[in-house]
Amino acid sequence: MPQRILRPLTESAIFLVLTVDEGGEDGVREVLDGFTGTLRTVRSRIVAADLGCVVGIGARAWSRLFSGPAPKGLRTFPALSGTVHDAPSTPGDLLFHIRAHRMDVCFELAGQLMRQLRPFTTVQDEVHGFRYFDSRDVIGFVDGTENPEGLEAQRFVVLDEDTDPVFVGGSYVTVQKYVHDMEGWERLTVEHQADAIGRHKWDNVEMDDETKPADSHTALTVIEDADGTQLKIVRDNMPFGSAAADEFGTYFIGYSRDLDVTEQMLRNMFLGDPEGTNHDRLLDFSTALTGTHFFVPTVDFLDDIPP
Ligand code: HEM
Repeated sequence: MPQRILRPLTESAIFLVLTVDEGGEDGVREVLDGFTGTLRTVRSRIVAADLGCVVGIGARAWSRLFSGPAPKGLRTFPALSGTVHDAPSTPGDLLFHIRAHRMDVCFELAGQLMRQLRPFTTVQDEVHGFRYFDSRDVIGFVDGTENPEGLEAQRFVVLDEDTDPVFVGGSYVTVQKYVHDMEGWERLTVEHQADAIGRHKWDNVEMDDETKPADSHTALTVIEDADGTQLKIVRDNMPFGSAAADEFGTYFIGYSRDLDVTEQMLRNMFLGDPEGTNHDRLLDFSTALTGTHFFVPTVDFLDDIPP
């Protein structure tokens, strides 16, 4: 059974990225073995909050933690260096993507997981995300509209017999933490902001092909296979930030069955399409601070961790 990747957007999320310390492998395996039980322990206390958590495992940790074969497509995030903007590749062996309708249960689960994992791991990043008005990112645009749903989403996200017979039901996930230059963004007119996204701000209506700029975010992230079929990922971005520190951010998270798809979108954004000339206008106001790929094993894998 796949982990619960596909679900309606929630109001709260915590993104926890850890690395496994040298010698911490057995301890981590034990915590992973008890993971679904830990999730149930917190979830059952307030069922209406609909707490969920997806665990991902990074390429560098896989062979340290498990003796069997690795998922075919698992690799580290490739750093990208465009003519104007860079996407760094940053460490991450474990990802916990915690989601619920309330922050208290997310925080409780994060706390319980950290109590168990602290002796064996180092925290690389912890981000608390919040739903912002009508699912807008902090730069004011509705985010998540074109996400595939239902069976279509499953097809784009969950591995099947053809993609990787050993890891059927698994998935891949990519995270990037972005901070925005809000002063620069707010100096743009609303029309120029819309040009950067390719959708209108207030009503979220998509621009038509004649008016949508080629360097808009949605022009560059719509990609197709050789037959002209659109290739999609499932995103659950969350705003985060600190008013005191003047930090306004978007935590990008994208699930896919094939990391090539996510990487192609990233190449279009950072290197440009055509390469070297047409990067994503959104990046002129958004800086990527992290970038990490993970594999998402099935629930069955977690409940019966291989030796
Ligand atoms: C669409 C925001 C990063 C992939 C969108 C939309 C917004 C948005 C507002 C339009 C509404 C929607 O369909 O969701 C952001 C922000 C980001 C970010 C603020 C970070 C600063 C990324 C990254 C990727 C990506 C890193 C891919 C690796 C997509 C895709 C679409 C989309 C595939 C849908 C395109 C379509 O089918 O029209 N994003 N995004 N986004 N974004 Fe992003």
